[in-house]
Amino acid sequence: MEKPSKTYIFANWKMYLSPLESQALATELKTKLQASAGACLAVFPSALALPEVEQVLRGSATSVGAQNVYPAPKGGYTGEVSAAMFAEVGCRYALVGHSERRKVFHETNEEVREKLAAVLAAGMTPVLCVGETAAERDAGQTKTVVEAQLRSALVQLSWPASIDLIIAYEPIWAISRNGGSGCDPAEAEKMANMMSGLAMELIPGILPAVLYGASVEPHNVAAYLAQPHVCGVLVGAASTTFVRWQDIITNAF
Ligand code: PGA
Repeated sequence: MEKPSKTYIFANWKMYLSPLESQALATELKTKLQASAGACLAVFPSALALPEVEQVLRGSATSVGAQNVYPAPKGGYTGEVSAAMFAEVGCRYALVGHSERRKVFHETNEEVREKLAAVLAAGMTPVLCVGETAAERDAGQTKTVVEAQLRSALVQLSWPASIDLIIAYEPIWAISRNGGSGCDPAEAEKMANMMSGLAMELIPGILPAVLYGASVEPHNVAAYLAQPHVCGVLVGAASTTFVRWQDIITNAF
């Protein structure tokens, strides 16, 4: 199969870094990072850190994205931030449906779809995250769960031709293993193959990019990216220190 020409290397900083720590890491990225040609780099800081991180990284090889959005554009939604607001402060991407949002904040497939539409309407590129729990995997439901997540998010969604279709396979049981073994690259490839086929069926005419994300580290990033249907990685913990992030980018190529 044809693969998108870019390799997406995305950093989900989750709630690991404070605003000051985020600014400090962004400054290191701006001044010291050796980016490789063909790499499409982005960091997803906390909402609070985002405007400063965006300012620091403006004009560098690294874009910024939001970790979550609220689907309504404006209004009485105490504590929430809309996609349009993230776009206004320079976000190019937004994660949608990350497993921690689904699990901790009980986000449903329906809400994920609304968020996806809101991100597209704001002119940003969504990064749709899907994946199965350990219990679903043990019950042999991996494919069914991921397929349902994808169908509900993408079916009959009108996708602008100018926006990349990026989907991240994040097996929940393999997230945050901290040096332990993540998902076998061959297993990730099987899912990436299934997901890109389904995405092409649901959104015809746009070549999807499937990323892998769960315990990606400098020592295993190349094995995931070597898979024919894996077009990038979404990295959590290992993206929050400069040296490990630089090593991931270097080892990716
Ligand atoms: P991890 O997180 O790299 O720390 O496993 C990945 C993610 O949840 O996006």
